[in-house]
Amino acid sequence: MSHVSRRLGSTRSEEERSHHPGEGPTVLIDTYDRVATDLRVSLTDKCNLRCTYCMPEEGLQWLGKSELLSDDEIVRLIRIAVTRLGITEVRFTGGEPLLRPGLVSIVEQCAALTPRPRMSLTTNGIGLKRTATALKAAGLDRVNVSLDTLRPDVFKTLTRRDRHKDVLDGLEAAHEAGLTPVKVNSVLMPGLNDDEAPELLAWAVAHGYELRFIEQMPLDAQHGWKRDGMITAGDILASLRTRFTLTPESDASRGSAPAERWTVDGGPHRVGVIASVTRPFCRACDRTRLTADGQVRTCLFAREETDLRGALRGDAPDEEIAQLWRTAMWGKKAGSGLDDPSFLQPDRPMSAIGG
Ligand code: 5AD
Ligand code: SF4
Repeated sequence: MSHVSRRLGSTRSEEERSHHPGEGPTVLIDTYDRVATDLRVSLTDKCNLRCTYCMPEEGLQWLGKSELLSDDEIVRLIRIAVTRLGITEVRFTGGEPLLRPGLVSIVEQCAALTPRPRMSLTTNGIGLKRTATALKAAGLDRVNVSLDTLRPDVFKTLTRRDRHKDVLDGLEAAHEAGLTPVKVNSVLMPGLNDDEAPELLAWAVAHGYELRFIEQMPLDAQHGWKRDGMITAGDILASLRTRFTLTPESDASRGSAPAERWTVDGGPHRVGVIASVTRPFCRACDRTRLTADGQVRTCLFAREETDLRGALRGDAPDEEIAQLWRTAMWGKKAGSGLDDPSFLQPDRPMSAIGG
């Protein structure tokens, strides 16, 4: 039996449970019996937007060239994750991953791995018009594009850049290139775009994009998040229901996906809400994260990281790196800790962790 099929069984094998497994591939399991199969890889901490819920106007202190993993180092870590750790899904993120010059080649090399992982990209969409066809040809399966508003002036206020049209063009290019289903992520901010939920959904349905709202999380570099002011999943659903009939999909179809989904006006279109703050989904989490400078993070909100770059550059063999990763995951906490009065925002903002 392969490690993947064992994972799907209701009981874990002794080998999986063991923190110090014997020979052969062993999955990324933690002490809460969760298995990570979904790897988020941040390819750069830089971005060409300055979304207010993410970055300050002036940007951040970017990582230096020698701190960043090289393309070869990234591909090697993904290969280790896929061939030794049971990762089946790779999501490229940033910052803005389309700013990474080697992206197409990284995708191509990952597509050649056995077993071939499913691959997607979370992007602000600006560079997609230029790259969608090449990314599809290289083996990318899908994209998630962030777009919070249909109003160019609100876009400019929210992202501090006048690039609304570039995002719409990028979305179209992705759809045409077959990077489907194209998913759109929207964050609603009080007083800015919180009245746009129904409009965004009507637009997404008309274009065949799958829309997901994400509750604003405390991951901005400026530490400006306030729970009191945030737009909740409850607010979003109430707003959508003024215009649409929403029918919840069964919990079974949700699996480990963070989005709760509803069919819109009887289907087939759907809308998702990722209620990371008000209805966290940590119990079903199947993620592991790699930052652009080669640190494993077990959670967006983790305060600890495990350095793989040092091992990579110290000529550690693949199995030693795999074992460092397993040990990191074994220490994964039960939840984000957002509800704990002692919650402390992670030191790195979202752009440096990878969404
Ligand atoms: N809260 C919620 N979502 C965020 N994103 C970035 N920062 C935050 C935050 N503080 C979103 C982006 C993108 C995805 C990677 O995460 O809009 O869609
Ligand atoms: Fe860039 Fe994404 Fe942060 Fe916006 S949320 S500034 S698009 S990294």
